[in-house]
Amino acid sequence: MKKMFCTIMHGIGRVYETLRFGSGILHWVTFWEGIKVFAILGATGKVGQTTATALREVGVPVRAVVRDRSKANQLAALGCEIAIADLQDAPALARAIDGTCAVQIICPVCAQGANASKEMGRSIESIGKALEAVQAPAVLAISDYGAELDSGTGVTMLFHALEERLRRMASRLIFLRSAEHMENWSRVIKVAVQTSALPSLHHPLTKLFPMVSAFDVGAIAARLLLSPFEDHVSPRIVHVEGPRRYTPLDVAGVVGALLGRKISAYELPRTDWSATLRLGGLSESYTQLVIDLYDAHNAGRIDVQPGVDETCYGKTEFLDALKPLMPSVLG
Ligand SMILES: NC(=O)c1ccc[n+]([C@@H]2O[C@H](COP(=O)([O-])OP(=O)(O)OC[C@H]3O[C@@H](n4cnc5c(N)ncnc54)[C@H](OP(=O)(O)O)[C@@H]3O)[C@@H](O)[C@H]2O)c1
Repeated sequence: MKKMFCTIMHGIGRVYETLRFGSGILHWVTFWEGIKVFAILGATGKVGQTTATALREVGVPVRAVVRDRSKANQLAALGCEIAIADLQDAPALARAIDGTCAVQIICPVCAQGANASKEMGRSIESIGKALEAVQAPAVLAISDYGAELDSGTGVTMLFHALEERLRRMASRLIFLRSAEHMENWSRVIKVAVQTSALPSLHHPLTKLFPMVSAFDVGAIAARLLLSPFEDHVSPRIVHVEGPRRYTPLDVAGVVGALLGRKISAYELPRTDWSATLRLGGLSESYTQLVIDLYDAHNAGRIDVQPGVDETCYGKTEFLDALKPLMPSVLG
């Protein structure tokens, strides 16, 4: 019933949108208000906050789901409703998303978790139960390149599990498969600052790989949420990457340009991966997931899924994604 209501309202909303663009008289955004609320999980994060902001900028009602109210001031100032829930607390999550027409979900992995897979598995199950409890009509899940593969992809296997769990539900689905976030490199830049060398797990150094700014992922997610779910097969699979692909040599060039000195990329020998990642503070279980992921990357297994032709491109270049992070990296 709820699903039918949302479908009808979404359809009417589209008519108003068309009229607005056709005549310039009607303001469809005003029309949306009071009808549709979008729930955004992880709303204090880079992706979630960008989506929430983009939706609020066009006047769409947003319920920002956060686990810590003290971090929600900026979201409240944007006009978001605030709901409190931990991703691993299914009843609280169900209350937080109840009555919304679409839910954007993320499933963060805890890099320090003693059993990272098990912890993410708990979040996946909790999110799945909450979505089922409220019969969420539509769900956009932030997923990962390579999530269609069912073995040997480490961290990405967790997104495979997430997609499989969501496919069991009646909701209309969008899987927004994100390439590696450009912002991840901020962790490695500290090493480059100290040693003028940039270790890479991507081998060889001339290999082009996809990356995207997390903020572009959030903005594209907002655009997808606003496009009618019913116009596409479910699950609608969309890949998102940056304006172009980069090699580890390109990455070192950009870091060097930002630091004002030469930075040389080198292939971190595979035998050193485990110790290096552990030194960086990753738990043993997460380290293994990262190793398996980069083995899959270097074997050329992680890319746009063959036969899936919807890919979006963020506008942010790698240099522009890193620039704002430099002050905190340089400390
Ligand atoms: N990094 C990549 O290369 C990559 C690639 C593909 C997909 N992804 C996906 O993209 C997602 C979003 O990325 P992002 O850049 O927005 O991450 P982010 O900036 O680190 O934000 C993570 C968000 O998740 C929230 N969160 C974490 N654990 C939670 C819990 N137990 N209960 C409730 N909220 C919790 C955080 O809340 P607090 O502010 O309270 O900590 C924060 O709002 C990631 O979680 C991952 O699933 C990432």
